[in-house]
Amino acid sequence: MTKRQPLVNSSNGFPPSTLQCPTRSPIFTSAGMAPFKPYFLGLKTDLKRAASCQKCFRTTDIENVGYTGRHHTFFEMLGNFSFGDYFKKDAIAWAWEFVTKELGIDSRRLFVSIHHSDDETGEIWKNCIGVPPDRIVKLGDKDNFWTIGVGPSGPCSEIYIDQGVEHSCGKPDCQVGCDCSRYVEFWNLVFTQFNRSEDGALSPLEKRNIDTGMGLERLAAIMQGKTDNYQNDVFSSLVSQIEKQTGSQFNQSSIIKTTLKVISDHVRALVFSLAEGAIPGNEGRGYVIRKILRRAARFGFRYLNQDKPFLFSLVPKVAEIMDFYPELLQNQDHIAQILKPAVKS
Ligand code: ALA
Repeated sequence: MTKRQPLVNSSNGFPPSTLQCPTRSPIFTSAGMAPFKPYFLGLKTDLKRAASCQKCFRTTDIENVGYTGRHHTFFEMLGNFSFGDYFKKDAIAWAWEFVTKELGIDSRRLFVSIHHSDDETGEIWKNCIGVPPDRIVKLGDKDNFWTIGVGPSGPCSEIYIDQGVEHSCGKPDCQVGCDCSRYVEFWNLVFTQFNRSEDGALSPLEKRNIDTGMGLERLAAIMQGKTDNYQNDVFSSLVSQIEKQTGSQFNQSSIIKTTLKVISDHVRALVFSLAEGAIPGNEGRGYVIRKILRRAARFGFRYLNQDKPFLFSLVPKVAEIMDFYPELLQNQDHIAQILKPAVKS
């Protein structure tokens, strides 16, 4: 990727004037829409549209991290948002235009999914965009209803890229939505129409909104012709550094590949979260941090024979690769000191 410039206020990824939401978490958001909750709910009205690149941190998929080329705990999410302004038709048309014209991705490699109840969206893809009906796949709530738990939520439509039959699990029913590596979802368009309460009940929001999310790591891999995020230029030099330090090779065996992915993902997540002031602990966020720290150290100990602390020595590399977040360079000694005692559990 082209070298990016530091963000204006790198502690939250936004220029300070654009976003000061009371609900923003002091560590990370799990989705680009999280800091915008007050806008979706109509509590704040000074913005009608926004676009962002945000640091996101999720551990819902942690058990997959290392075993696929597309899962991460920490990632950068690109998104565009409408707060009661443009809706489905524009969001879909602009997403398609961006993907096929700006990025130049061949539409013959693309599929879209829609919520099984959302015929309106299917019609837009078919009649306004011209996507052939056999490339529009209906899926259920698990894949095509987006919620962050409590709060703004709605049906969604996702754009997938076909990585080729050689990446298929080979099962007869392998299609869009399959967990294997053939069809990779890289952009989620959420039609945020509901507020979900604690008991799961959905109430319509006063205005219809748009929330989209596209993982930068997946997009970088696609644009660089890689089928594994850990081989794109966000990750490759970090993976090489771990190879060099531990005498291992990414393609040596499947468990070594998994281990290198786990360590590179988790150390990046740790560097970002510790730079934001998080520390490993026994509860809440601290526990999550400790869990990924231990998982990385355990993989290193078991499969790379790292019986001495080693994660700390990767901190400068992460800070160097991600130098458009200056807080990493500024805090690297502090971060390394916290990571140093980690060997195994
Ligand atoms: N909020 C949606 C997601 O994270 C876009 O997938």
